Amino acid sequence: MRKTVIAGNWKMNMTAAKTGEFIKALAPEVASMNNADIVLCVPFTDIAAAVEAANGTNIAIGAQNVHFKENGAYTGEISAEMLVESGVKYVIVGHSERRQYFGETDITVNLRAKAAINAGLTAIICVGETLEMREQGITAEIVAMQTKVALMGISAEQLKKVIIAYEPVWAIGTGKVATAEQANEVCAIIRNVVAELYSKADADELTIQYGGSMNAGNAEALLAMSDVDGGLIGGASLKVTDFTAIVKAAQ
Ligand code: 13P
Repeated sequence: MRKTVIAGNWKMNMTAAKTGEFIKALAPEVASMNNADIVLCVPFTDIAAAVEAANGTNIAIGAQNVHFKENGAYTGEISAEMLVESGVKYVIVGHSERRQYFGETDITVNLRAKAAINAGLTAIICVGETLEMREQGITAEIVAMQTKVALMGISAEQLKKVIIAYEPVWAIGTGKVATAEQANEVCAIIRNVVAELYSKADADELTIQYGGSMNAGNAEALLAMSDVDGGLIGGASLKVTDFTAIVKAAQ
């Protein structure tokens, strides 16, 4: 059966000094929780502190972006090899904030996902519709297209290193959470798309997370849905008690 993965996305929050404190406080709270993989995707400058603090715990560390070239004249960018060497196991790719503010496209998402996977990282690929798209009734088409382009050139074997996060843009940082049924419906659409591209068996193995205003109060209902295999959590991942409660809800 597929894995449940609870991942925090700290976005541009927390300094390295605060990172160590946070993980030292979180680790004992979640130490006995082994029904979900636990990941914290931290800013690049926090990675070293996070990896050190998480050493020997059941918390894995992720990054929030990766460049698609192996190396070269790309000022300000970070390669997959650099992430691997720093102890990172996961990387978020194609978050809607990167699509919205930093010119990320479905094509660059695909390139980044492939670079991550080729280096041995697990890519958390984000897809999701805007409110305007939902109101236009094209959620299924948009999410299917984003998924199909993101997975171009990725083999069934490599799919084992992919997590898809369904994050409706209208639910991110707004406090407006998708209902458990809405989340499950779109996660199931994504799984069907993956079944068409690969096989039903491959799709059944794929972890599909929900993200968007997930918190200690709503996590249990969302995570109980058949096609929701975890969460990608922004704001609530910045508080030890809230993040712990979400991990607990996955048990
Ligand atoms: P919030 O949980 O703050 O809505 O953010 C969700 C998100 O974007 C996670 O990647």
